[in-house]
Amino acid sequence: MAMSQSIRIAPSILSADFARLGEEVRAIDAAGADYIHIDVMDGHFVPNITIGPGVVKSLRRHSEKVFDVHLMIAPVDPYIEDFAAAGADIITVHVEATPHIHRTLQLIRSLGKKAGISLNPSTPASAVDYLIDEVDLVLVMSVNPGFGGQAFIESQLDKVAELRRRIDETGRDIDLEIDGGINFETAPRAIAAGVNVLVAGTATFSGGPDAYQANIRRLRGDA
Ligand code: DX5
Ligand code: ZN
Repeated sequence: MAMSQSIRIAPSILSADFARLGEEVRAIDAAGADYIHIDVMDGHFVPNITIGPGVVKSLRRHSEKVFDVHLMIAPVDPYIEDFAAAGADIITVHVEATPHIHRTLQLIRSLGKKAGISLNPSTPASAVDYLIDEVDLVLVMSVNPGFGGQAFIESQLDKVAELRRRIDETGRDIDLEIDGGINFETAPRAIAAGVNVLVAGTATFSGGPDAYQANIRRLRGDA
């Protein structure tokens, strides 16, 4: 099981003030964020539209932290190169978004980026079975993707535990990340189930900039 000191917090900028995005990224960086989680939505794979590679590129000069780019788009292959060039460090794609996920993961790695695979709530853990050697991160969606501020789906904790076993069997350093409905109550339960990266939008940004540091510490289990 992941040790508490290795827990990483990835604030989702979906809950930031979009009119002040550069400032918000600097603020969560200074407040102790480990990864900057960037939610990309296309109004097709998910029912919402957010940001594209141009915004990622503009944000790059505001932080040197890991840019954890979560692509909720279909098709996805035509955009991978753009997000890589924009400065993504980890590029995560949904297994449900393409019939050729193996090829997509190879494409991400061929560009020198870390490859992540994301599973919707209804997708079983076994979806990673023939892909685990191609990934650096597995993302369990604990809400249906599309919006911040939704309620945590309890059944995903079993999936996390199963994926933790699967990842440990490989002996490789693969991140196990959870995204959706993570707050001070669900964070410790997700950690106990085996995640080492917590995405948190609402819980990080609530209370405004003065609260970011305390929010991040509390999510990590330090306070
Ligand atoms: C949902 C996004 C999440 C979302 C999380 O589709 O992938 O990253 O912003 O928001 P909270 O933490 O508010 O549930
Ligand atoms: Zn996300």
